[in-house]
Amino acid sequence: MFDSGFGGLTVARAIIDQLPGESMVYLGDTARAPYGPKKLPEVREYALECLDYLVRQDVKALVIACNSASSAVLRDARERYDVPVIDVILPAARRAVKLTRNGRIGVICTHATATSLSYDDAIAAVPGVDLVTQPCPLFVQYVEAGITGGTELLQTAREYLLPLREAEIDTLILGCTHYPLLTGVISYVMGEGVALVSSAEECARDTYATLTDLGLLSPSSNPARRFLTTGAPELFETLGRRLLGNFVTEVEQVYAV
Ligand code: DGL
Repeated sequence: MFDSGFGGLTVARAIIDQLPGESMVYLGDTARAPYGPKKLPEVREYALECLDYLVRQDVKALVIACNSASSAVLRDARERYDVPVIDVILPAARRAVKLTRNGRIGVICTHATATSLSYDDAIAAVPGVDLVTQPCPLFVQYVEAGITGGTELLQTAREYLLPLREAEIDTLILGCTHYPLLTGVISYVMGEGVALVSSAEECARDTYATLTDLGLLSPSSNPARRFLTTGAPELFETLGRRLLGNFVTEVEQVYAV
């Protein structure tokens, strides 16, 4: 599993919940994160380096947990590797299309994901569905600072989400690894009439379905999990645990991917 940093741990957690027997190598490129404000060719270069590294660890499947990286490399990655590649964009887009009743879907994401138009591409073929995209870059900073509530965050959320409320969407895709941790405030601002789609949950379901369909599910009841980071392991462990609990242990530093 690959992410730009810590946020992909939301996807890791969803996968551990749904597939507790699977072993996992998680690589967070924290030394070069955040990817969200970067240009797509740069994100592409970093993401392919990290994915090449994971493939050299002899994995049976790759999960690109990062929306910005999925947006930049999904097609290339599917051609480049012999193992199945699961992303966060397509499963979330499919779920949103199924859920919407009025045909108006919103997605909140980083600038990189918004610029790539990856969610637009995923939904383009569906007739009668419109997508409204809203980058919310500060949300990543709030989550990494451990802030998931309070008046300042609420005010920021109201400003970011206003165009989506005005567009009268009925389904909102949380198109960034960090946003499931802000479900409370996002749901509070959008109201109960708007269904939230977590790309982390949908990615985990897709991982389950892909491994099952390809006969790749592990019979193991004793999975091994490794957490690798290109940055400082102490920081990864501290932030990872603060955000997502005790399953983040034994973080190792990778110097060259
Ligand atoms: N993982 C990124 C994403 O899902 C968010 C953090 C970053 O910008 O690197 O788009």
